[in-house]
Amino acid sequence: MAREPWPEPTVEGSAAIAGHSMYYRICGDPNAPATVLCIHGGPGATHDYLRPLADLARSGYRVVFFDQLGCGRSTRITDTALFTVEHHLSEVDALRRSLDLGRVHLFGSSYGGALALRYAIDHPAAVRSVVTAGGLASIPLTVAEERKWIDELPASVRATLRRGEEEGDFDSPEYRAAMMEFYRRHVCRLPVWPEEVQYSFDQMSEPVYRYMNGPNEFTIVGTIRDLDFSDRLREIRAPTLVTGGRYDEVSPTVARAIAARVPNAELAIFNASSHMPFWEERALYLARVTEFLRRADAARSLRPPL
Ligand code: ALA
Repeated sequence: MAREPWPEPTVEGSAAIAGHSMYYRICGDPNAPATVLCIHGGPGATHDYLRPLADLARSGYRVVFFDQLGCGRSTRITDTALFTVEHHLSEVDALRRSLDLGRVHLFGSSYGGALALRYAIDHPAAVRSVVTAGGLASIPLTVAEERKWIDELPASVRATLRRGEEEGDFDSPEYRAAMMEFYRRHVCRLPVWPEEVQYSFDQMSEPVYRYMNGPNEFTIVGTIRDLDFSDRLREIRAPTLVTGGRYDEVSPTVARAIAARVPNAELAIFNASSHMPFWEERALYLARVTEFLRRADAARSLRPPL
C-alpha cells in the first residue's frame, strides 16, 4: 500500500521547543477558523499513522501534527528526564503557543489521548473540544483489559507469549510472531497495514517507547505503568468525544470508563475496528468526528468569548 500524499496546502516546519527541534506539519487553510491539534501515541511513535485526520482539512479545518521530542523527525533526544507525561504536556503547550494556534480542538490517539485529556484538565481555556481514539486515563485498567484479549488468543499463541514473558525475551522471532497475532486483532485489523501505520511502528523511538511504555503494546512495564488520572476526568469542561474500536487493545471498557466520568462526553465505538478506527472505518470515523467538531464549534459560538 503506497503512502498517501498529504492534502494541499501542507506546510512542514520545525519549532524550537525546550531547546530542541520539534517537527510539525500543518494541513489545510492556514487561516481556517478552527484548528485540530493531533497528538500521537506510543509513547514514542510518529505522527504519520494519524494521516486520515488530515482529511479534516477538506472540511475547512487547519490540522496540525507533530512528532514529540525524541520521536520521528524531531530531535532524537535520549535524556530520559524529558520522557514524562508532564514534559509531553509542556511540549503540546509550547507548540500551541509557538504556532499561535489559539484555542484548539485536540485529537489524541492512545497515549496521545491521555495527553489530550490531561491537557484539557490543565489548560481549559486553550481547548475547544477533545477527541480521543483508543485513548486512556488508566494504564492499569488498559493492561487488565489487554490481558482479557490475550486470554482469547489461540492456546499456542498464548503459550509463546507466556514463554517470552517468563524468559524476558520479547524479541525472538517466535515471540514477535505471537505478538503480531495480538496486533492484527487489536491494534489494526486491516489485512494490509497502511504504510503510514507501518512507518510509525518501524520508526518507533526505542529510547522513548522502552522507557515509558515497555517492550510491546501489552507489556506496559515502563514509567507510565501506574498512570491513572481517572479521578480528574470530572474536571474536564470541554465537549469530549471518546472513540475506540470494538476490538481495541484499549478496550471499550476503558472508553466507557472515560466517557462516564467526563461531564460533557459522548462515546462512539466502531464495530469493525480495533485501535485505529480512523483507518479501519475511515469514512464513518471522519464523518462522526466532523459532525462532533461542528457541533462543538456551534455551541461555542453561542457562548460569550473568553
Ligand atoms: N502503547 C499505547 C499507545 O499506543 C499506550 O500509546
